[in-house]
Amino acid sequence: MQTKDTNATRSFYDRISKVYDVIADGGEHTARERGLAALAVQSGEQVLEVGYGTGHSLVSLVKAAGETGSVSGIDISQGMHDAALHRLQADNLADRVDLRVGVVPPLPWPDDHFDVVSMSFTLELFPLDVIPTVLSEIRRVLKKSGRLGVVSMSVTDVGQSDSMMEKTYKWMHQHFPHIVDCQPINAVRFVEEAGLQITHREEMAIWSMPVAILVANRQD
Ligand SMILES: C[S@@+](CC[C@H](N)C(=O)[O-])C[C@H]1O[C@@H](n2cnc3c(N)ncnc32)[C@H](O)[C@@H]1O
Repeated sequence: MQTKDTNATRSFYDRISKVYDVIADGGEHTARERGLAALAVQSGEQVLEVGYGTGHSLVSLVKAAGETGSVSGIDISQGMHDAALHRLQADNLADRVDLRVGVVPPLPWPDDHFDVVSMSFTLELFPLDVIPTVLSEIRRVLKKSGRLGVVSMSVTDVGQSDSMMEKTYKWMHQHFPHIVDCQPINAVRFVEEAGLQITHREEMAIWSMPVAILVANRQD
C-alpha cells in the first residue's frame, strides 16, 4: 500500500505556487491546451477541474462553458487557490467559478453532477493504489454520458523501452519522492479499468517524456 502525506503535498504546492508557472508552464502548456481542445467543452456544460493549479485551464473552461454553464474546481493548496483566483479576477471571471480548497479523494459533489471532469498533470501525483479511488470518484460525479479529460505523464507503450527521461523520473520518484512527487503512469489502463471508455487518445513528448492526452466517456 502506497501512502502519501497530504500535509507534505499541500505545503509543497503552497511553497511553489508563486513560481509554478515559471518552473512548469513552459513545458506543460501545449499538452494542457491540446487536452482542452480534445475535451471540447460546450456552452451550458457543468464542468469540474481536479487540481486546478494556477488556474490556466479554469479560464478556458469558464469561457467554453459560457454564461449558461458552470465551472467548479478543487485543489489541495491554498497557495494554488490564491494564484488561480488572481488569474480569474484579472479576466473578470472569478464570480463564475466555484473554487474550492480540499483533499481529493473524495470529491465533495453528488452523483451524476458534471458533464465534464478535467485533470492535467495531476492524476500521476497520486500513489498508484489511490488512482483507482480518484477515478471511481470522478466516474461517480460524472453524468451517465459525461466525459473525463486526462493529460498525464505516461509510460511508453508496452513493448517499447522506457525513455531516459521516464527512467529518471521513476528513479527520482522512488528515491526522492519529496522532490519529484509524480511518476509516469499507464493512464490508459487506469482509465479503462475505472469503467470509462476512451474516445480520444494522443501522445506527445515534453523533453522526451511521453505525455498521454485522453478523453473517456462514462458509459453504463
Ligand atoms: C502539477 S500541478 C498541475 C496543475 C494544473 N492542473 C496544470 O496543469 O497546470 C498539480 C496540482 O494538483 C494539486 N493536488 C495535488 N494533490 C492533490 C490532492 N490530493 N487533492 C487535490 N489537489 C491536489 C496541487 O496542489 C497542484 O495544484
